[in-house]
Amino acid sequence: MTSPKPHRTQRWSWRPQIPSFFLLLCSLSYIISISSLSQASAESIAAPAGSNITTSFQYDIIVYGSTPAAITAALQVKQMGKTVAIVCPEAVLGGLTTSGLGWTDSKDGNVIGGLARKFYQDVFTHYDTDSKTVWKHENRTEYLDMHIEAQPGPAIDEGNKIQWTFEPRVAETIFAKWITDANIPVYSGEQINRDKGGVTKAGPTITSITTVSGKTFKGAQFIDAGYEGDLMATANIQYRVGRDSHGDYGEKLAGVFLETTGDTYDGVDPYVKRGDESSGLLHGIEDSVASPLPMDFTGASDSIRLQSFNYRLCLSKEPKNAVPFTKPDNYSESTYELLLRVLEAGHKSTFSDQAMPNKKTDSNSDGPFSFDFVGGNFDAETKLTYSEASYAQREAMIKRHKDYQMGYLYTMAHSSRIPEEHRQFVAQYGLAKDEFVSNENWPYQLYIREARRMQGQHILTQNDVQNAAGYIGGKVAGMGSYSIDSHVVRRVAQEGKIYNEGGFYVMNSKPYAIPYGAIVPKKQDATNFLNPVTVSASHVGFGSIRMEPTYMVLGQSAAIGAVHAIEQGRAVQDVDQKKFMAAMKSAGQRLG
Ligand SMILES: *[C@@H]1O[C@H](CO)[C@@H](O)[C@H](O)[C@H]1NC(C)=O
Ligand SMILES: *[C@@H]1O[C@H](CO)[C@@H](O)[C@H](O)[C@H]1NC(C)=O
Ligand SMILES: *[C@@H]1O[C@H](CO)[C@@H](O)[C@H](O)[C@H]1NC(C)=O
Repeated sequence: MTSPKPHRTQRWSWRPQIPSFFLLLCSLSYIISISSLSQASAESIAAPAGSNITTSFQYDIIVYGSTPAAITAALQVKQMGKTVAIVCPEAVLGGLTTSGLGWTDSKDGNVIGGLARKFYQDVFTHYDTDSKTVWKHENRTEYLDMHIEAQPGPAIDEGNKIQWTFEPRVAETIFAKWITDANIPVYSGEQINRDKGGVTKAGPTITSITTVSGKTFKGAQFIDAGYEGDLMATANIQYRVGRDSHGDYGEKLAGVFLETTGDTYDGVDPYVKRGDESSGLLHGIEDSVASPLPMDFTGASDSIRLQSFNYRLCLSKEPKNAVPFTKPDNYSESTYELLLRVLEAGHKSTFSDQAMPNKKTDSNSDGPFSFDFVGGNFDAETKLTYSEASYAQREAMIKRHKDYQMGYLYTMAHSSRIPEEHRQFVAQYGLAKDEFVSNENWPYQLYIREARRMQGQHILTQNDVQNAAGYIGGKVAGMGSYSIDSHVVRRVAQEGKIYNEGGFYVMNSKPYAIPYGAIVPKKQDATNFLNPVTVSASHVGFGSIRMEPTYMVLGQSAAIGAVHAIEQGRAVQDVDQKKFMAAMKSAGQRLG
């Protein structure tokens, strides 16, 4: 067993505060909802004239991040009568739900309750019309007549008045209205300062966070609802990155291994000059591994690599609403030699085209060389993976992902070596012209499938997901239902053949309860912190939990825990079970 990513152990000192006589109002133009100020008890502090202005704000609960979990958390706090602000780096709220992922990842819509369900009900209501401003490129009857079976149920579920498929711009409108209607202040463009001093703690109590721009946010409770877990990490809360070993939690799927199922590369040569190992490996294949496999490829842990990322693209089949794929910066067809060989060998490798309303798609990776930029979230020089990389390094990785995926599409659309049927498939599509209009029709948010995972009070594992039963009588934070799913981590070559490393996909027989202990840290790490996204789970357990509707469910549960901790004057770990479960029920959460 190898040790997980070590967590830093330095102690935090109390950050001296600027004297209160400097209290004055500062510019609040970046607060989306000005009208909320009266309830927000926002306090601002300015430094002496001549120095840079620093400002400080105070709310009962600070939510960091812009994912759907941040939204449901903030809304629930507000509904329970406490003050709350969302602080996030991103300009647009909603994470992947507003960035292309409309093919809702759940295998049982009945376990999605509370505000998460409200979101899909609002989607239904939006589309439940004949209006030509809503249905621009087809009508509702035509969409219904496709009889789309979405993952949680029928795409439009008339009986339950719920809709599981939607356009990104519709999700964006719904979330923005929720936030505006609830008068929740949003401090966007604010990255937490990940250096020492970004989080102040008094013992295990977090007292404030500071952003790179110098703003300080004080609160009684903190919820990290970002994809990366940056607040968690900066607060010195234990976490892991990468794969646990087989032995760590006794998980069959754990550890580093070569895939024997899933996508294969039969008949595809890995070398630049076919058959000539000395010519080097093709772009996209990282390493050669020995045969028999070395120990570190047989279920060992790995603390530096993450499953692959991509953009979920919203493509349009309607010519009037489609923008042609263009050549990215630094394009070279040689980068895609492996793709060309994969297709020439007869493998199907395009992208999925799940039908969203208005002749659009949610397009995901599909095939051995597709949207997933395998290896793109790892910097081979610094040996840093996305979650551990600096903000600047992350920006560079994000750009690489965009260039990779644009280059993939450009190659598919233009290379003379693309088989005709594939070229025709791709030629049907372009980027949807009326989506992400402020971002050149490209999704705002990269799909960060996994980053850090908390090592909290309860670590959710493969066993918890597959043998649902263990939490009867305990606090339940919601239900998960998705398959156990990890995308590929890297490609390697062995004896002239190509293999994927790290991918798996296993269906679950039934939904399972997620214990509250999976969204709170160990008590010695923090007593006023909750985490509905980079939750406490093994890599395998996380493979099922890591879905947008589940994040929404857990965001709402985290808010209930945080408010109860304030009301009861207790650590988040110790909130009263009966009261918690009663509040969960009255919030409409599904618990079994
Ligand atoms: C204000 O901040 C900028 C950027 O952090 C820095 O370069 C500058 O020296 C600061 N000015 C003062 C007066 O502290
Ligand atoms: C929807 O479109 C179809 C095909 O164009 C048409 O026959 C039908 O009348 C339309 N329905 C509505 C409600 O507009
Ligand atoms: C351009 O692409 C090549 C490989 O295709 C790569 O080695 C190089 O670093 C890239 N340059 C930039 C600036 O991204």
